[in-house]
Formats: sequence, structure tokens, C-alpha cells
Amino acid sequence: MGKKLLIHNDHVPGIHTLDVYRAHGGYASVEKALKTMTPDQVTDEVKKSGLRGRGGAGFPTGLKWSFLAKPEGVARYLVCNADESEPGTFKDRYLMEKIPHALIEGMITSSYALGAKKSYIYIRGEYFYVARILEAALAEAYAAGFLGENILGSGFSHDCYVQVGAGAYICGEETALIESLEGKRGNPRIKPPFPAVQGVWACPTVVNNVETIAAVVPIVNEGGEAYAKIGVGKSTGTKLISASGHINKPGVYEIELGITVEDFIFSDEYCGGIKGGRKLKAVVAGGSSVPILPAELILRTAKGEPRLMTYESLGDGGFITGTMLGSGGFIVMDETTSIVKNLWNFTRFYHHESCGQCSPCREGTGWMEKILNKILAGKGNLSDVDLLWDIQSKIEGKTICPLGEAAAWPVAAAIRHFRAEFEEYVKNPSSIKDVKHYYRLNNLVEA
Ligand SMILES: Cc1cc2nc3c(=O)[nH]c(=O)nc-3n(C[C@H](O)[C@H](O)[C@H](O)COP(=O)(O)O)c2cc1C
Repeated sequence: MGKKLLIHNDHVPGIHTLDVYRAHGGYASVEKALKTMTPDQVTDEVKKSGLRGRGGAGFPTGLKWSFLAKPEGVARYLVCNADESEPGTFKDRYLMEKIPHALIEGMITSSYALGAKKSYIYIRGEYFYVARILEAALAEAYAAGFLGENILGSGFSHDCYVQVGAGAYICGEETALIESLEGKRGNPRIKPPFPAVQGVWACPTVVNNVETIAAVVPIVNEGGEAYAKIGVGKSTGTKLISASGHINKPGVYEIELGITVEDFIFSDEYCGGIKGGRKLKAVVAGGSSVPILPAELILRTAKGEPRLMTYESLGDGGFITGTMLGSGGFIVMDETTSIVKNLWNFTRFYHHESCGQCSPCREGTGWMEKILNKILAGKGNLSDVDLLWDIQSKIEGKTICPLGEAAAWPVAAAIRHFRAEFEEYVKNPSSIKDVKHYYRLNNLVEA
């Protein structure tokens, strides 16, 4: 059994309540940090831990914290990104729903390190019931003196608020999130200035993912070095993986970074193998935005080495033969899956969620969806596959925020690894099964 640091107590009855959480060692990091450590010492432990942002990009958290501008007399903020809209990702919801105090404890300890007197948990609109759970936990934390004025007599005061979004994927992008938090339409901002200099209310702000903030708790309790001993290379600690698709045991797993992908998919400790004993076809390893890989490349790198669940190993081979750990949304597809239909589903999502600010993304996502509609309606030409490739290549790197890349990468990878499937649909439309749904949706042919 691998070591668990974040959800080890998830099955303890009542762990969502302060009393039970405290009885299992909860809020020790707040006591330790506020009573025995300076804010810089907390940041140093986070740096030593090697913790990397769990929201997708994997940026080193301690380094991000050290970029926070600290002008005299100007407020600083910590914002928790609980938007979690990436298809295939549901680990933050699990953590907040089961152990809400783990996030709140991390918010207090992290805010102390950053000198933030106020923090926000920005949670996606569809998680309204989780917002209620967090609000109840916040009320308990206030009543116990872990929030509010002069926490535990340390002189540090802190208020934490829950802000519910309206269910837009773009509001997971940190600057769009900040706009939305300020009550405006969630359009991404042009950077620089980065949030570390001008974030919420134009004040220095750190935006971190739910899991990143929760990981600060074991790091402070056990020390950064102990945390860094778990994992491989620059992928330290544990990671929550949302496992879905054609596997026997879908769910949220906490893994030690560095286990093999094969072990994760096939062992009984995790996904328990492919449903019905069918063959593995492909995996989207880090949420819908990251490149899909066929079975042979997800299990082994192009060099023939076993692929590990780490940032480096999953990235080995770049986007030609590799992918990304991303947010850990691990979608497993068996041999019955149509890659073209799967891509249609993802592309439709990105078209719907594009904020429309940048034309390559606004127009490009729409055209990619239209071309996939055409292919799935049995009306495609071989040149459509090239056109799809051409459009995705004209989105990447040409937008204010990375939603453009998030929409383009899945298209590029699907064509790169599964071009024959697109061509088969074009050459032999009768091979396209169960497409009435697409016909009706798009009025391309009579239902
Ligand atoms: C379109 C888009 C959606 C995103 N959605 C999320 C999200 O739901 N949750 C999240 O933590 N980060 C999301 N991110 C990444 C954030 O912009 C940001 O990098 C992250 O919150 C930083 O936290 P971390 O350093 O702890 O990973 C998204 C980025 C983009 C471009």
C-alpha cells in the first residue's frame, strides 16, 4: 500500500466535522506554524518539499509563493481554485466533500506563510452542495478559534470566504477566476501583470489548486524533506488521481508519484484492470486537455521504458510520443471506443466553453466541432482531416489564455495517433455506428 497524506481518513465516519477531524490530528499544522514558525519558515518547508501545483501546470509551489509582491501597506490574498471543470477531473470535489477541514486547514497555514489576512475559495457553480459543506466547516473553524481575530493568540488574524462561480470552465483559468471573483465577466486577463503582482482587487495574490493547498498540511506537519522523500525526481509527494472510463474500479486514488502506469491501471489496489477483460486502447492521462496516448505509448515510453505516474515520465517524448500528468484526470478507453466520437465530445465542450475573447479560439473551436460533425455525419472528405490539423495548429500559442491549447492539443494527438480512424469514417461512412444522435443534434441529415 502506498503512503497517503491527503485522503487517508476519508472513510472515518464524521471526518467532515471539526471534532472528528481534530481527533485525527486535524489543525496541527495551524498550531505548529502559528506558534512555532515564522511565515518564511513555512514557505521554506514548502520549497524543500518540491511540491508542484496540482491544478495542471505543475509549477513549483514554493517558488510561486516567493514571487508574491509584498509592498508595504497593501493587502495580499490567497485564492483557492476549486473550479475543477476539466472533463475527467473530480478529485478536488472528493477532497472537499469528504474532508473539508483539510482544505480549510491548508488555507489558514498557507495564508499565514503568505501574510494574507483574507482568502477566498472559488468553487464552481455545479458544486453548490460542496460549497454548503465548506461553509459549515468554516463556521466550525471560526467557532473553535482557527479563523477570525488573533488565531490561537498568535497575533495572526484571518478570514476565509467561499465564493460560488456560475459554472464556466474558463473561470478555472486563474485570471478569469479573479475577474469573476471581483463580480465581472470571467474573461482571462493579459499577463503581465501576473496575479503575484496584481491579482484580486489589483493586490498581490497567489492562486493555488485545492489539492496543492491541502498538501501544505502534511508538509508543515512532517517537514518538507520527509515529503520530498516520497516520489521520484522532481515529482515529489502524493497525487490524487481521478480515474474514470472502462476500468473495473473508477474513483479517486491517492498515489505515491512514481508508480508505473501499468500498475495504476491493472493492479487491484487502483483501477483493477479493464472492464470485461477487454483490451486497453488509449488513455487521456491528465484531464481532457492533455494529448491522448495509445496503449503501447501510455504503458511504455518510445524508448521502451515503463511509463511512470510522474510529470517527467508522462511528458517523456514531448507531444510526439508523450503527454502530461496535468490535473490527474485519468480517462481509460477500451478497444470499443471510437476516438473520433470521443474527440467530438471534447471539442464540443471547448467550443461551448471558449470565452470568445480571442478569435483563434472562438472561431477555431467552432470550426473544429463543425468538421467533426461533418465526418461523423458520414459527409467528410479526406481533406477534412488535414483541415482539422491545420486549424488546431493555428490556435496553439495565439490566445490570451491556454484554453486555446487545451482545445488544440486533443485534436492534434487524436490525429497523430489515430489518423486511420478518421480516414476510415470518411472512406467508409457505414462504419460509423450509433450516430443518429449526431445527425439530430446538428441537422446535417434527416433523423
Ligand atoms: C481554461 C483553464 C481552466 C483551468 N481550470 C482549472 C481548475 O479548474 N482548477 C485549477 O486548479 N486550475 C485550473 N487551471 C489552471 C489555473 O490557471 C492555475 O494555473 C492553477 O489554479 C494554479 O494552481 P496550482 O499552482 O496549485 O496548480 C485552468 C487553466 C485553464 C487555462
